Amino acid sequence: MKLVDYLKQQGRLIDRALIKFLPADNSLIACAMRYSICAGGKRLRPILVIEGARLCGGTVAQVLPAACALEFIHTYSLIHDDLPAMDNDDLRRGKPTSHKKFGEAAAILAGDALLTDAFRLMSVCADNKRNRPERVVEATAVLSVAAGYRGMIGGQAKDTIEQGTWHKKSISLAKRDIEYIHLTKTAALIQASLVVGATLAGATSLQKTALNSYGRNIGLAFQIADDILDLTADKKLLGKRGSDRENNKLTYPALYGIEGSRQLSEKLIKEAKGNIRLFKQASMLEQLADYIVERKY
Ligand code: IPE
Ligand code: IPE
Ligand code: MG
Ligand code: MG
Ligand code: MG
Repeated sequence: MKLVDYLKQQGRLIDRALIKFLPADNSLIACAMRYSICAGGKRLRPILVIEGARLCGGTVAQVLPAACALEFIHTYSLIHDDLPAMDNDDLRRGKPTSHKKFGEAAAILAGDALLTDAFRLMSVCADNKRNRPERVVEATAVLSVAAGYRGMIGGQAKDTIEQGTWHKKSISLAKRDIEYIHLTKTAALIQASLVVGATLAGATSLQKTALNSYGRNIGLAFQIADDILDLTADKKLLGKRGSDRENNKLTYPALYGIEGSRQLSEKLIKEAKGNIRLFKQASMLEQLADYIVERKY
């Protein structure tokens, strides 16, 4: 199957599951949660959960709640990332951002609710007989580290601190900082997606290490591509307005230029493909690695 068709097919499956796990009432917070989740998105992280599991002998049904947990956490991170105190963006997934539509308090709380509910979804995995309790515990620990201070939050914090002040640093220090930011704010959750799926499926440590390295490389390349798209993409297609320059963000193009950033991400993609050589049926992950840098949104 071609990658685009595969992504569409998996996306539909994930969308149906997400709806099932969202609250159905009409409170402001429930509406805000549904609004951001249902606004679309590429569903990359849940797809990686499924792919990580599949490569290690697992089933889709066994990891579907975990796949949705990853999308809940990702969507919460976007809602908070757009807030006036963070990137102050008005457009997300082609629609007004959560705080524009529902107000800041509701956006903050909808994000909090998605984050918290993600861990309920991890516990739902234990209802499936294929998931051994100790694997659910391990996968939950992987997710909490990646989403928390040692991962995404750490990166978002550094991204915010460096905004507007990074030019005062030496280029070499700024290059070290940007790698840390991108590895934590973005790659950590991408790595966790693959490892959560693999862990639930009972992967060996060799398999988990391989997927973790692949995730690190595509995760870093993914955020470099995001930085490039912020400057170059058709905004309508991108579904967000591109605010890095205005916010004086420390980005790869700011330090390496657009062409230099492209070259770096291509090198990472090559490495990522090398990381998964031990899997016999990794053609989707290979194609996905190329898609990460070739995507238009
Ligand atoms: C955007 O992520 C934020 C980053 C970590 C770069 P995506 O590009 O995966 O956003 P959606 O989910 O498709 O909207
Ligand atoms: C944010 O990076 C990554 C997150 C953890 C949400 P960006 O701020 O570049 O993401 P976009 O461009 O707003 O999607
Ligand atoms: Mg940001
Ligand atoms: Mg942003
Ligand atoms: Mg961006």
